[in-house]
Order: sequence, then C-alpha cells, then structure tokens
Amino acid sequence: MEVLETQRLTMRGFKPEDWEDLHDYLSREEVVRYEPYGVFDEEASKAEALRRSTDHAFWAVCLKASGKMIGNLYFQQQEPQAFQTWELGYVFGSGFQGQGYATEACLRLLEYAFSDLQIRRVTAHCDPRNYPSWQLLERLQLRREGHLLQTGYFKNDIEGHPLWHDTYAYGLLGSEWLSIQQAASDKQQA
Ligand SMILES: CC(C)(COP(=O)(O)OP(=O)(O)OC[C@H]1O[C@@H](n2cnc3c(N)ncnc32)[C@H](O)[C@@H]1OP(=O)(O)O)[C@@H](O)C(=O)NCCC(=O)NCCS
Repeated sequence: MEVLETQRLTMRGFKPEDWEDLHDYLSREEVVRYEPYGVFDEEASKAEALRRSTDHAFWAVCLKASGKMIGNLYFQQQEPQAFQTWELGYVFGSGFQGQGYATEACLRLLEYAFSDLQIRRVTAHCDPRNYPSWQLLERLQLRREGHLLQTGYFKNDIEGHPLWHDTYAYGLLGSEWLSIQQAASDKQQA
C-alpha cells in the first residue's frame, strides 16, 4: 500500500498498534452516530486495527507533527470491477474535526485515485442528517446524484421497529475531476 502525504498529514495502511488511536475515536457515540456499528470497546478496537492492517480499503490518517492517527479513510473498489467505481468513506476523531483535515486527506486520495490509478468513478453515500458529511462531499466537488428514501436501518426503536434512514448518493467521474483541476489551474494563471 502506498504512503500518501499532504502538508499536515501522512496517509498509510493500518498497523495493529493503531488500536489505541482507533479506540480514541470509535469509542465515541458522536463519531459513530451515522455508522452501521455502535461504539467500540478496547478489545473490539484491537481486533479492528488488526483486521484493517490487512485490508487495503482502510487508510490511516496521521498527523505529520506527532504521528497520531486522527481518523481514517475508506476507499474500496465496487463490484463488478470492470465498472471501475470506488466508494469513498471517512471517520475522524471529534477533536480533529472542523480543521480541514478530512478535506485535505480526501483531496489527496482523490488525486491519487484519478491521476495515478486512473480510476473512472468515485461514489459516496451519507445520511442527509449528517450535515458535516455531505458538506465535505460538496467541498470535494462530488455531485449529489439522488436522495434515496428509507434505504436501510442500523437501529430499532424501543418497540423493535426499524428506524429507517434516507441516503444522499454522490458521485464524481475522472473526466469531471480533470476539468475541475484544469479550471483551478487556469484561474491561478489568469
Ligand atoms: C464527516 C467528517 C469527516 C467531516 O469532518 P469535518 O471536520 O467537518 O471536515 P474537514 O476536516 O474538512 O473540516 C472542514 C471545516 O474545517 C474548517 N477549517 C479550518 N481550518 C481549515 C483548513 N486549514 N482547511 C480547510 N478547512 C478548514 C472549514 O472551514 C470547515 O468548517 P465548517 O464545517 O464550519 O464549514 C466528520 O464530521 C466525521 O468524522 N464525522 C463522524 C463520522 C461520520 O459521520 N462519517 C461519515 C459517515 S457517512
């Protein structure tokens, strides 16, 4: 797995030793609220860091200054592989939100994916109530492709009925990415 760098961040594959930093954010209810899982205890965090250390879909995002892992990206090719479509996801610790780290990490990953790997399409999905998530996607210039109603549920109400949630679907083509980069470079030169 490659190591990617930005001004403030290093992005690399997971190591089993990352479990403490992983636990720092996955143990917090406000971080996992819109994830398909609940909070992680220490044992679950150890198992998850170990599992992710062999799963190349997960990128550990670390501060260059301290080495601390502050969050992770998820970037997984979808089936069928011939469609060359990848799903983007992200989770950052509460103390590391609102500082542009997620934008910085995702932009670097998109640049790597579209320019180096030359992939064709990126998609992302989030709950419409997760405002920071779809704000991030729009900052990255993904297009909202649809508002899908009652697509699934992760939790039940007290009577055991599913709490259905909606989904915003976002997408970006490699050709669109290149146009965005070209427009930004033209603007800089003007
Ligand atoms: C979704 C999530 C990653 C978004 O994180 P975020 O911190 O809002 O996004 P960024 O790191 O790009 O930060 C952007 C904010 O930092 C501000 N910022 C501060 N310094 C900045 C800098 N140097 N560069 C860019 N933005 C900066 C921006 O103005 C913006 O603030 P605003 O939200 O008030 O407009 C985060 O909320 C999260 O991890 N949530 C929990 C997990 C989750 O729900 N994941 C998604 C499931 S679909």
